[in-house]
Amino acid sequence: MAQNLEELKKICESCEGCELAKTRTKCVFGVGNEKARLMFVGEAPGEQEDLTGTPFVGRAGQLLDKFLFAVGIEREDVYIANILKCRPPKNRDPLPAEEDACIGHLREQVRLIRPRIIVCLGRIAAMRLIDPEYKITKQHGEWVERGGYLMTAVYHPAALLRDPRKKEEMLADMKKLKAKLDEYDN
Ligand code: URA
Repeated sequence: MAQNLEELKKICESCEGCELAKTRTKCVFGVGNEKARLMFVGEAPGEQEDLTGTPFVGRAGQLLDKFLFAVGIEREDVYIANILKCRPPKNRDPLPAEEDACIGHLREQVRLIRPRIIVCLGRIAAMRLIDPEYKITKQHGEWVERGGYLMTAVYHPAALLRDPRKKEEMLADMKKLKAKLDEYDN
């Protein structure tokens, strides 16, 4: 077991636990405040993330940044990671075997960061972390307690790029998230 995030990152960077190790440019470990109270978990790196090694820096990431800014959450205060640390070819959905091979890295990350709130970005993360039957259109913004963590899911920013009508609901969920964070501060 890794003693700290730096050690865990090195383990991930040399991981050959699934086929994606062969096609990745960079392992996208995660980024942000190592003592964050709030952690976002997305699906898997896309093209820009694979090239830079940083999660959510492409178009979807820029939209996420806008929502964070809109509700007054600083990106520097949160931690952002993905279910998969390596990009699936052509951004296809992660395979169950890839998730199984990679999920241990995320669990270790959560153990080391110990956030109070974990927010799944999109259906894939919600199905893996909250409920295999999770229905994002119905359940987004609902809060659940899992293993001592307060959890919710919001639309994946890429889904908002495809369907901008969902942005209003996203803003409402993000405002609720900010209110939850503020509750912990007071
Ligand atoms: N989509 C994700 O789910 N994660 C990223 O890091 C980028 C896009």
